[in-house]
Amino acid sequence: MRVEKQIHKFDKQANMYDRKREKRELGEHRRHLLSSAFGKVLELGVGAGSNLPYYRSDIELTAVDFSPAMLEKVKLANDTKYGLKMEYIQGDVESLLLNEHDFDTVVSTLSLCSYRDPMKVLHNISRWCKPGGRILLLEHGISSNGAIAFAQKTLDPLAYRFVGCHQNRDIMRLIADSPLNIQKAEHHMSGMMHLIWCTP
Ligand SMILES: C[S@@+](CC[C@H](N)C(=O)[O-])C[C@H]1O[C@@H](n2cnc3c(N)ncnc32)[C@H](O)[C@@H]1O
Repeated sequence: MRVEKQIHKFDKQANMYDRKREKRELGEHRRHLLSSAFGKVLELGVGAGSNLPYYRSDIELTAVDFSPAMLEKVKLANDTKYGLKMEYIQGDVESLLLNEHDFDTVVSTLSLCSYRDPMKVLHNISRWCKPGGRILLLEHGISSNGAIAFAQKTLDPLAYRFVGCHQNRDIMRLIADSPLNIQKAEHHMSGMMHLIWCTP
C-alpha cells in the first residue's frame, strides 16, 4: 500500500483511537509495560495517545506519527488532560532522521503490525536508544493457537485493506532476528499479544 493511502486510512481512524484512549483499552498491559519507561522517551506510532494515562509525570516524551489527524488528537489530549512535557514529530518512522543514541526509552505499542518494513523500524529503534536504555513493546501478531492463526491468516488481506494493520506477523521471530536483545517477554490472548522488554 502506498504511504499516502496508509496515512489517509489512519487519519480516518483518529476519532476511534481518541475514544479507545479514554476507554483505557488494554490498560493493565500498558500500565505494566510503561512503568519501566524513564527519562527521555521516544514513542513511535503514538496514535491518539493511548499510552498517555500510564506514563510517569516526570518523563519527556517525543511522539512520532505520520498521521496528522492522530497527532491533533494526542496533542489536544495532552494539553487538556495529561500535561506531560511533549514534543510532536509528524513523520514516517521508516525514513525519519533522529540523533543516534538519544533516548533513554523507546516505546512502540500495537504498531509493528502496520509498519511497511518492521525490520527497518527495529533497526532504527536500536540506533535511537541509548546504550543502557530500554525498549518497550506491546505488539500483536500471529497466535500460537493453530485455529486462531488460520483465521488470522485468512482475514489478513481484509484487515490490512480496511484498517492498515497486518494480523499475521510473527512478532517474536521479527524481534529475535533484529538487533534488539530481549530481556523479558510475556504472552497473552492465545499468544497473540506480547509485552516485550528489550535493550538495544
Ligand atoms: C494501530 S495504531 C496504534 C496506536 C497506538 N500506538 C496504540 O497503542 O493505540 C498504529 C499507529 O501507527 C501509525 N503509523 C503506522 N505506520 C507508521 C509509520 N511508518 N510512521 C509513522 N507512524 C506510523 C499510525 O498512523 C497509527 O497512529
